[in-house]
Amino acid sequence: MILVSGGSGLVGSHLLRLLVKDEEPIRAIYRSKSSIEKCRKVFDAYGETNAFKKIEWFQADILDIPALEDAFKGVKKVYHSAAMVSFKDKDHQQLFKVNIEGTANMVNVSLQADIEKFCFVSSVAAIGKYRDESCSDEDALWQKEASTSDYSISKFTAENEVWRAAAEGLPIVIVNPSTIIGFGDWNSSSNTLFKKVNEGLPFYPPGSNGFVAVDDVVEIMIKLMDSEISNERFILSAENITYQSLFSFLAQGLDKKPPQYKLNKWMAVSYLWFERLISLMGLKRTSISRANIRTAFSNRCYKNEKVKSTLGIEFRSIEQTAKDCGKLYLKAN
Ligand SMILES: NC(=O)c1ccc[n+]([C@@H]2O[C@H](COP(=O)([O-])OP(=O)(O)OC[C@H]3O[C@@H](n4cnc5c(N)ncnc54)[C@H](OP(=O)(O)O)[C@@H]3O)[C@@H](O)[C@H]2O)c1
Repeated sequence: MILVSGGSGLVGSHLLRLLVKDEEPIRAIYRSKSSIEKCRKVFDAYGETNAFKKIEWFQADILDIPALEDAFKGVKKVYHSAAMVSFKDKDHQQLFKVNIEGTANMVNVSLQADIEKFCFVSSVAAIGKYRDESCSDEDALWQKEASTSDYSISKFTAENEVWRAAAEGLPIVIVNPSTIIGFGDWNSSSNTLFKKVNEGLPFYPPGSNGFVAVDDVVEIMIKLMDSEISNERFILSAENITYQSLFSFLAQGLDKKPPQYKLNKWMAVSYLWFERLISLMGLKRTSISRANIRTAFSNRCYKNEKVKSTLGIEFRSIEQTAKDCGKLYLKAN
């Protein structure tokens, strides 16, 4: 039996799509019935409604240890992709609780249950930077700086819980994806990029970043879990491209005009303060944060040689992935 956490999310739902193709039984934990529906919609969008029925759904919050202990009965392998993905200042406490304490619970119950192998979905947010600004690899030392986001701290600390469990005897693999492009609920996680572009975004941020297709992320996770490899981390990032290029690919898939104007910092900061004011007046919740602005204005770049040479794989193109997903989003919304 394989257990998946975060099955209603972007990574989890695509992971389940692949896992159900094999014979091994699959159990996915969920929090509410509406989460299961989110996953079903992903299966439906790919015409895989029947395959969805192969998943056994088990209600458990990763913060609820007794529920997890029940969910782990008969399980041999675990994929842990549940997390809170947020850059909002107000989510600080919940982010730390879900990502750090939740991951500690998952590895502790795995140790108790004698799990054969555990795959953790970390993030490039837990990967460091080199001083000379060269692209980061798996060895780049993560250091907390004044500008480090709470999300980054939570993922780095969660990853440390997984390394601690490895030292205590749990065989693990860790993947560190860059920003993931895929089809899912466009109100959450990186999928919101599609929603924003669909609403007609006039501005693109000047920075650049790493991006990876969700299909590559989940295929690699399964390959690593089926291999002899353990106690290693792998950056999963197909390409380093500008936001201008990314937004133009997304816009083409969604049949929208790509953003025309480059965002400058004073505009972004003024918008942030305007949103905060509106939020203080109780009129609307803020949708951007200081961390979003920092990311949008920085140039991050990641190396992917380790996973390519270890597994002998090539990544899908971001342009094609963005265009294909854009069409699926248009059909579904
Ligand atoms: N998306 C990206 O660009 C990206 C990049 C790098 C790394 N990652 C990592 O990839 C993983 C998956 O992210 P995603 O993009 O798939 O996120 P997502 O779409 O927001 O999904 C998050 C999943 O976690 C579940 N979850 C949250 N809190 C939980 C709790 N307390 N107990 C049980 N389940 C809980 C959610 O369930 P509900 O439906 O109940 O809310 C949902 O299934 C995360 O670890 C994230 O840090 C994501």
